[in-house]
Amino acid sequence: MAWKSLREWSEDLKDRGDLVVVDEPVSPEYEIAAYVKKSCEEEGPAFRFTNVEGHDMDVHAGFFAAKRRILEALGGETKKEAETNMVEASSDRIEPTLVDDGPVKEVIDTEPNLEEIPIVTHNEKDVGPYITSGVQVANLPHTGTRGQGIYRQLVTGKRELSLWSPEERRVGYAYRVNAEEGKPTEMAIVIGASPSVIFGSIANVGHDIDKYSVAGGLMNESVELVPGETIDVDVPAHAEIVIETLIHGDEKNPEAPFGEYPGVYSEQNENTPRVEVTGIMRREDAIYDTVLTGLPPNEDGMMNWIPRCASVRASAQQAVPNVNQVDVKIGPSGGNGVFQARVAIDKRLDGDPWNVISSVLGGRSQAKYCMVVDDDIDLDEEAEVDWAWETRVQPQRDVYTFPTMTGAPLDPSGPKRQAQKMGIDATIPMDEDSERYEPTRVPGKDDVEW
Ligand SMILES: Cc1cc2nc3c(=O)[nH]c(=O)nc-3n(C[C@H](O)[C@H](O)[C@H](O)COP(=O)(O)O)c2cc1C
Repeated sequence: MAWKSLREWSEDLKDRGDLVVVDEPVSPEYEIAAYVKKSCEEEGPAFRFTNVEGHDMDVHAGFFAAKRRILEALGGETKKEAETNMVEASSDRIEPTLVDDGPVKEVIDTEPNLEEIPIVTHNEKDVGPYITSGVQVANLPHTGTRGQGIYRQLVTGKRELSLWSPEERRVGYAYRVNAEEGKPTEMAIVIGASPSVIFGSIANVGHDIDKYSVAGGLMNESVELVPGETIDVDVPAHAEIVIETLIHGDEKNPEAPFGEYPGVYSEQNENTPRVEVTGIMRREDAIYDTVLTGLPPNEDGMMNWIPRCASVRASAQQAVPNVNQVDVKIGPSGGNGVFQARVAIDKRLDGDPWNVISSVLGGRSQAKYCMVVDDDIDLDEEAEVDWAWETRVQPQRDVYTFPTMTGAPLDPSGPKRQAQKMGIDATIPMDEDSERYEPTRVPGKDDVEW
């Protein structure tokens, strides 16, 4: 939690055997991603690659391939604790502090060349190497605050990138507003910041909130910032690399195909802006880091797991007071971390599940399916969820399909974000004899050994 950089967390993980140092030569094209994909499937370790072909720089990868490390990064022993920390950090924020100097300023390069950084190509049909782990930061004209998020960026030249940040995103909104006035937008791409800065940047808070202050809330200490060199954007002093850029919102630079979190390739985007690199600051021995997207299990969905749970809980609690557990399905057993929401409630009225379902499906989590179960079902046990859905649901009575709503981006079956949604009430009807639903049990099972 109190790690100031990804490097500090990495050392900690290595000491505990949860980070593997790979000294054999690896290619940044697919090979690093292959290690991470396997680790996602097995909830395996994180990696530090020390011998990346064609580069002097090491690469960190796979930090978010396992749920245990997501919980650790958010300072929670359990999912509920991590969720609470995330929610509390969004309200009990600690403002960042500006300092004069920091490790990220050890090397200042005003003749930048992206080819010197081992930017990774992940999926087979990705159009090229993508920065997937950058926290992008810009000053927002519409709120007067700093704005952060994680947005994919295709490398299209030594000093040129593309950017996918739709209009509802804070940086996406900012560059469009500036472009209408004929102005470029200064944007920093921060790589290798602390896990708190990374998770703070995907917190679900209003555009008027500087997400560095959410990171402060997560770390329980102020994030130290240094001013940029070629742009007027403040960045974490302890990051590994900061790529300074100008977004030219009035110039197009197409991007994609790119393997995205639902497990399919995004189609080519004609409408993405040209991003010009103006400078790079970095540590002397900077370590690049990458995040794997694509077919679940992936790191992108895993990183969104706890923030999405918090959104699902907020929507469910708006509908009924008796919410117990929440989850979004993600991990080696399936789920992309967005589409399938589950909520366990202490049902008091027969209509409660439908209040929850309509609130969650219409809320900010972007879920496409929502299943509500009674609170005797443990959402962390997939077999229990299956059992509830097998024994407590009569489809005509308990399943409802909502006509077209605004869906999650990138659902291939619901282009232009027009998606149908489905609710499943897997709770026991209140007027039925609950004994009919009692699970069978074999006494003494936990006492036998062989
Ligand atoms: C690894 C990763 C990659 C992401 N890539 C993108 C992306 O390319 N474009 C995008 O709009 N959101 C992307 N997101 C989601 C946003 O970063 C996230 O929703 C964030 O909260 C956006 O902030 P904003 O809505 O305040 O701009 C990504 C999230 C993660 C964890």
